[in-house]
Amino acid sequence: MTETVRLTGRGRRRFRTGHPWIYADDLTGPRPGRGALVALEGPDGERLGWGLHSADSKIAVRAVSREEAEPDEAFWARRLDEAVALRACAGLLDPRGACRLLHGDADGFPGLVVDRYAGVLVLQSGAQASEELVPLAASGLPSRLADHVEVAAVVERSDASVRRLEDLPPRVGVLAGELPERVEVVEGDVAWTVDVLGGHKTGAYLDQRDNRARVAAECAGASVLDAFCYDGLFGLRAARAGAREVLCVDQSRDAGERLAAAAERNGVADRVRFERANATKALRELATAGRRFDVAVVDPPAFARNRRELPGAERGYRELARRALALVDEGGLLVMASCSHAVTPSAFVEILGRAAAEAGRRVFLEHLAGAGVDHPALLTLPESAYLKCAFLRVGGRA
Ligand SMILES: C[S@@+](CC[C@H](N)C(=O)[O-])C[C@H]1O[C@@H](n2cnc3c(N)ncnc32)[C@H](O)[C@@H]1O
Repeated sequence: MTETVRLTGRGRRRFRTGHPWIYADDLTGPRPGRGALVALEGPDGERLGWGLHSADSKIAVRAVSREEAEPDEAFWARRLDEAVALRACAGLLDPRGACRLLHGDADGFPGLVVDRYAGVLVLQSGAQASEELVPLAASGLPSRLADHVEVAAVVERSDASVRRLEDLPPRVGVLAGELPERVEVVEGDVAWTVDVLGGHKTGAYLDQRDNRARVAAECAGASVLDAFCYDGLFGLRAARAGAREVLCVDQSRDAGERLAAAAERNGVADRVRFERANATKALRELATAGRRFDVAVVDPPAFARNRRELPGAERGYRELARRALALVDEGGLLVMASCSHAVTPSAFVEILGRAAAEAGRRVFLEHLAGAGVDHPALLTLPESAYLKCAFLRVGGRA
């Protein structure tokens, strides 16, 4: 039988803003022992909707519906249809390409991410709330994609560290079909192999796809730095677009090996160099050595996982931006990203402004981008607009 949880007055006010997260402090009365679908009621006993419960998370319930009727099979089928239609509309279902199919709460699947790498789907469940959604998405997505791409395998990569906070063990494996020996994907005119079982996240950072295209468009004849490069997609796309030399820096040995193989395969190995290093230190060393680049991309990991970590993160981003500015010549482009959801777009721009002042440079914000449309930003869930990617034109001395 479906259990009911009761919101406090504050919880109800917050719920009515449209934000789908209900914190443990905003519930009153008994709660289920683990993850489960729950009915939501207000402090006066009125029905508010439905949510998925997590017993061990500060986010106790993630709302899935504000309707009277309990979500059933048809409800989830409509949600899957909607998600696939959005990617189809955006032209993201090219059989050799990659895209995010389900972006967690923003697509109405709390805590669940599904990425597609050509014909391989990779599912990642990060909360007790999303555990029940895994079989539903694994069985429901392949037939919905059939007009666009044949799904060869469905893989689970539920091994992110956040699972520990919810008392969930890691789970990695092939759920259906046969995983090809190499998962080959094309982005723009770069072909590369994704490590879906061992790579970061579900295997790649798909959220930067559009920003990589925008950077590539600036790179003909340019010298390019790709700092925190992972598999080097910014750098590889820059090289394919005609960059004369590309330096990629990351601390991951595996990523460096994949990058070298992809550079070879895409015919740009003579212009793309990988250096395994601490990128923060490398930026300073490059400046000391007098190196300058026409285009620099700095895409570090999240510095703040929550609001408590904000002050340290702000210092970190400011320092990185200051170091990167020293490497970009007048007229050049600095592309600086932050994937910390706790750092708002306006706070990020302010941090970059302080870095510019400290560096004594005139810097212009040409474009502030987010993730691609396959990582939808739900207006009532600001946390879903986590990626900020600032395109900064670097001028002369201030
Ligand atoms: C957000 S990802 C970069 C994604 C990449 N730009 C892309 O488009 O695919 C951050 C990367 O930073 C790397 N990293 C984290 N800390 C680092 C450090 N101190 N020095 C160098 N690389 C680091 C990680 O290995 C990861 O590949």
